[in-house]
Amino acid sequence: MTDQALADLGRRLPELRLLTDAGDLEHYGRDWTRRWTPAPLAIALPASVEEVQDVVRWANEHKVAIVPSGGRTGLSGGAVAARGELVLSLARMNRVLGFDAVDRTLTVQPGIALEAVHEAARTHGLIYPVDFAARGSCSLGGNIATNAGGIRVIRYGNTREWIAGLKVVTGHGELLDLNRGLIKNSSGYDLRQLMIGSEGTLGIVVEATLRLTEPPPASQVMLLALPNMDALMQVFALFREHLSLQAFEFFTDIALKHVLAHGAQRAIDGEHPYYVVTEFEAPDERAQDAAMAAFEKGVEGGLISDGVLAQSDAQAAALWRLREGITESLAPHKPYKNDISVRIGAVPAFLHDIQTLLAREYPHIEVVWFGHIGDGNLHINVLKPEALSDADFIAQCEHVTKLLADTLHRHGGSISAEHGIGLVKRAYLESTRSASEIALMRGVRQVFDPNGILNPGKLFI
Ligand code: MLT
Ligand code: ZN
Repeated sequence: MTDQALADLGRRLPELRLLTDAGDLEHYGRDWTRRWTPAPLAIALPASVEEVQDVVRWANEHKVAIVPSGGRTGLSGGAVAARGELVLSLARMNRVLGFDAVDRTLTVQPGIALEAVHEAARTHGLIYPVDFAARGSCSLGGNIATNAGGIRVIRYGNTREWIAGLKVVTGHGELLDLNRGLIKNSSGYDLRQLMIGSEGTLGIVVEATLRLTEPPPASQVMLLALPNMDALMQVFALFREHLSLQAFEFFTDIALKHVLAHGAQRAIDGEHPYYVVTEFEAPDERAQDAAMAAFEKGVEGGLISDGVLAQSDAQAAALWRLREGITESLAPHKPYKNDISVRIGAVPAFLHDIQTLLAREYPHIEVVWFGHIGDGNLHINVLKPEALSDADFIAQCEHVTKLLADTLHRHGGSISAEHGIGLVKRAYLESTRSASEIALMRGVRQVFDPNGILNPGKLFI
């Protein structure tokens, strides 16, 4: 049946690039989770909006599921095709379509890499401020699908804040032009915002108009060593009070061990349980003095044990590497990833609760903590011991995630801060969303994609 469907697609769209080689199926069928065995039907690489619409119409007729696909750097299985789906890769639709100097917007195709967006903005003297370590390989379409966050949310917010307009192909194959770059638009439901974070279950983004902004004033980067967990949010409060923060990220000594083993350079001597990389605006002497004063106050108060202020761009990059290199350094250990958030005000109590929980549930397993603590977002990466089978390891982690989800529920948090639900967290959606909300979400999905062909199995069980 599926062979016939594929033959029909080839006949109807002779120009469409279709891949069916085993190597391509494996390559395009998975994301960075590496948990599922890729098994797509084929890979379609459309080059135009019309081709995307035609593929969606074909999929409706033949009831073939589609997995929209960008850079596949996702960490929740949102772009995995393990059940005979057609992967619709937007890799060929990766161009900048236009820049509007008056509106300060950049219009791009969804397959463009985040870093290419940064470069395009820079050529116009502006910035696109969403940023994170996978910038070189993740795609804008994927960023939109997960409402990606990253390291500058504290200053600029999530992807959602920067999308001025979206063109989307729905599950019917219909093309919607949402918000059209307007700043003010009080004309009913904002369907653009509904698409952002919908993980490819409502529509396929085929064009995005991004807001750009002025580059920030000159900044400085500091690495801090902290003596205990309670100091984290106290130092955050101290720095936020005195400085304009661009980033406030933390990691533990265990994370440091891995990133150093992976080639990063140690910047602070001695053993310290917690570290913070912070970047703040420091355009003049006054701001620089304020930073030193905040640092000294932290030291005097026993909140900061040591620190380094980057003296050059190269040193700033080296300090950032200690934080941004963590994900890559952990990858060989097949980490089980929790990406959770609570309100900033709830972080201290939440940290204590989960510290007790994780120490009890993972007594002999290495657990690496890091993340965007200034946004209330923690990345808890659990590393697979070599002696444990993949299946036993996942089963244990899922048991603990259930308990973690209960704790999050008590603290009013979210089971996914920025990676999305995908396949990995769909069993825990109820810890963050009420039954009524989930029922409404399913209803919305039904409206946009009545035959359920767009990324089925993701987000919902
Ligand atoms: C990061 O912030 O480095 C990633 O989102 C976290 C991860 O790899 O778990
Ligand atoms: Zn992150």
